[in-house]
Amino acid sequence: MAARAVGLLASLPLCTQRNQVLRPIQRLFSCPGTVAAEVKREEQSSGSVETGSEDRTPKKKFSEVQKERRDQAQRTVLIHCPTKISEKKFLKYLTQHGPITNHFFYESFGLYAVVEFRQKESVSSLQNATRTPSMGTETAVPFRSRFFSLKTKNPLNPTSIRCSIHSPPSSKKLLELLCYAESIDDQLNTLLKELQLTEENTKLRYLTCSLIEDIAAAYFLGCTVRPFGSSVNSFGKLGCDLDMFLDLDEIGKFSASKTSGNFLMEFQVKNVPSERVATQKILSVIAECLDHFGPGCVGVQRILNARCPLVRFSHQSSGFQCDLTANNRIALKSSELLYIYGALDSRVRALVFSIRCWARAHSLTSSIPGSWITNFSLTMMVIFFLQRRSPPILPTLDYLKTLADAEDKCIIEGHNCTFVRDLNKIKPSGNTETLELLLKEFFEYFGNFAFNKNSINIRQGREQNKPESSPLHIQNPFETSLNISKNVSQSQLQKFVDLARESAWILNQEDKDRPSPSGSQPWGLAALLLPSVMNGVSHAKKVRKKPASERIKNLLESIKSNGSENATSTDRKRTVSTQA
Ligand code: GTP
Ligand code: MG
Repeated sequence: MAARAVGLLASLPLCTQRNQVLRPIQRLFSCPGTVAAEVKREEQSSGSVETGSEDRTPKKKFSEVQKERRDQAQRTVLIHCPTKISEKKFLKYLTQHGPITNHFFYESFGLYAVVEFRQKESVSSLQNATRTPSMGTETAVPFRSRFFSLKTKNPLNPTSIRCSIHSPPSSKKLLELLCYAESIDDQLNTLLKELQLTEENTKLRYLTCSLIEDIAAAYFLGCTVRPFGSSVNSFGKLGCDLDMFLDLDEIGKFSASKTSGNFLMEFQVKNVPSERVATQKILSVIAECLDHFGPGCVGVQRILNARCPLVRFSHQSSGFQCDLTANNRIALKSSELLYIYGALDSRVRALVFSIRCWARAHSLTSSIPGSWITNFSLTMMVIFFLQRRSPPILPTLDYLKTLADAEDKCIIEGHNCTFVRDLNKIKPSGNTETLELLLKEFFEYFGNFAFNKNSINIRQGREQNKPESSPLHIQNPFETSLNISKNVSQSQLQKFVDLARESAWILNQEDKDRPSPSGSQPWGLAALLLPSVMNGVSHAKKVRKKPASERIKNLLESIKSNGSENATSTDRKRTVSTQA
């Protein structure tokens, strides 16, 4: 792979000089009215990924973002279009139902349009003008939704439709971009910019939840389907799954507000033995409905006996792999906490994206559940590491709790999930370390962490004795008796440690004899993302027939000689000697 990458870079056209060609892939957007907003967004996002240039404009609360996006999604429809279509006529046709504020096209098993009306009433108007298709030999189950299919009676003068991009750039393209970056900091920011969810992709995620909510509402009127996890916590990468949670709490709230005086009216309901059984039964009927009547929903799997029961399916029209859970309020709170951490300092997301990519490139993470580390655990490790810097880059969860006011108070199932939700109340860190240093130090820190006796804990931001014997212990921030990485095996943890040490070693080597960055061969972050580079290092070492202990000794020497002496590194050295 390394050799292939060199070849690939050598074959780049002459014009591919640094700063010139390798601009981020342009996100195409077809609504003229939204171009300015898009440019502004691009500017904002590029500004926000520069280390040290913190954006001081007031930041929105997670709940405000969720509400805005949700309202937007409820005014939006999804339309499967013929591939040959006149955009202008299409929009003119739709504006009969009301003004359109935004639209974009994308491809996923055909051409789709996402159209956002200014008012919700326009959606009903369009639905009232829509018929159920007659299917010939098959029978269509009538289902009124916000997902439509556009047919054209007569051939139109098609115009070329520009589609927004919903998949990450190819590894080849990414590698090119990284190799031509100016510095390792630039590489981390480039990776973030290329892989983060786009505005359109985020809109499509909220729309998909909103469409699933319409289906669930057929059973549970007034329910809400909310996205959580990486789709909303700011650590989502293009192509990540869509985690959603069916929230039935709003139904209860609505009826409670209607009770008054001496009388108390209750709905007649059926009882089941436990909350878990209720969740299983609810998800089971929703799964049936999605399977039989949900437009675009395919491959519905009922995973109801898992610790957290879920329904997994593919939303073919959006291209998302969806996990629908119910009664999962704590996970939504975790998403909010990660959103806050991601927004506090521009280095956080850049570092998390790079570590996640690094882990994926070396098969430390997988889309299949198993004994490997998860992206969620990796994010916790990065947050913990940033809490351990001097001065800390991120505050502890306990500190965020001290900033909370009465309105922030939140107890879920007996767990205290209180923390300040207004980002503007949290003072920015005075730490000015570069991303390059942080990346290197991350690998050194975890390459030498005493996993055998210590637990990672973002609530207190310090290492603690492990309460149980799992190889990796990362305390669940809210359900503090739980370990979010209980599934990780000793061999997977060892693989993580070995790769972290080798990555630190590579970065330290580069420091010593780094040629000025050039596109001629993978360097910095690009070198770390190539599995064969790491294998190459191991291979070279094997050829030299050095025993493992000597290799580790050398690595430690190189780490020590780097000379970053602080309290945490003293602890590290002590723990290294126990491990090695
Ligand atoms: P991706 O890999 O990009 O999907 O990251 P993700 O953060 O969305 O992870 P995932 O889809 O596995 O899980 C979705 C959300 O569920 C996470 O963001 C967490 O909020 C929560 N979650 C995942 N794993 C655990 C766990 O082991 N314990 C707890 N308490 N919550 C978890
Ligand atoms: Mg996810």
